[in-house]
Amino acid sequence: MRIVLLGAPGAGKGTIAKLLTDYDGSVQISTGDILRGAVKAQTELGKKAQGYMERGELVPDDLIMEIMEARLKEPDCEKGFILDGFPRTIPQAEALKKLLEKLNLKLDKVINLDVPKDVILDRLTTRRTCSNPDCQEIYNIKSKPPTPDGKCLKCGSPVVQRADETVEAITKRLETYNEKTAPLIEYYEKEGLLKTISSLSSEEIVEKIKESIKQ
Ligand code: AP5
Repeated sequence: MRIVLLGAPGAGKGTIAKLLTDYDGSVQISTGDILRGAVKAQTELGKKAQGYMERGELVPDDLIMEIMEARLKEPDCEKGFILDGFPRTIPQAEALKKLLEKLNLKLDKVINLDVPKDVILDRLTTRRTCSNPDCQEIYNIKSKPPTPDGKCLKCGSPVVQRADETVEAITKRLETYNEKTAPLIEYYEKEGLLKTISSLSSEEIVEKIKESIKQ
């Protein structure tokens, strides 16, 4: 499958993307995970991105497109890809369209995960993430806890709260989403690719996505 997962911070994009990778071998491409890995390793990209991320702002479009152009050309994308957190602005969506045309590829669907604001706020404050950059498994202290001593069930590394999970950064990320990313809903509606799924369990969302790409 070749899909985009749209949704506010905490809507469940990362959780659903990870579950979908078991379906048909499509790879999850999370710009957030790539950027957090770069910040942790303090690469040139990481140093440029760190401030924006900690403030809850978007990283500039040109940096993101550089990452995505290289990533989508990698051989593991041939089986399909699940774009998690990209595109996030109209210019990114337009650049993605051009890039896919160049690669002779088409998106199957754009899935909009529609979750009420109070649920989002609760999820973001109770989320924990594996600190191992190669794992980054997502947990929730209420609905999907790690081990009792706070370790990842998959790789055993400590699970942590992300640096952008302060109240200030969460507030800013939600504002940024409304201003810069929400307009993509209308953009993809016009492209005839949009499917909105309202808050359900992760398993039900995965089933709805599978059904919608078969249609
Ligand atoms: P990114 O990592 O993409 O963060 P985000 O969009 O803010 O999304 P989150 O990762 O916070 O949430 P999610 O929707 O993946 O939810 P999750 O599955 O974790 O980006 C971080 C930063 O990087 C940005 O702020 C920006 O600075 C930069 N960046 C990234 N991409 C960029 C781009 N393209 N352009 C520019 N800058 C970019 O779930 C949340 C919690 O809810 C978890 O605890 C989970 O267990 C729980 N949960 C999930 N689904 C369910 C469910 N169905 N039922 C119950 N609980 C659930």
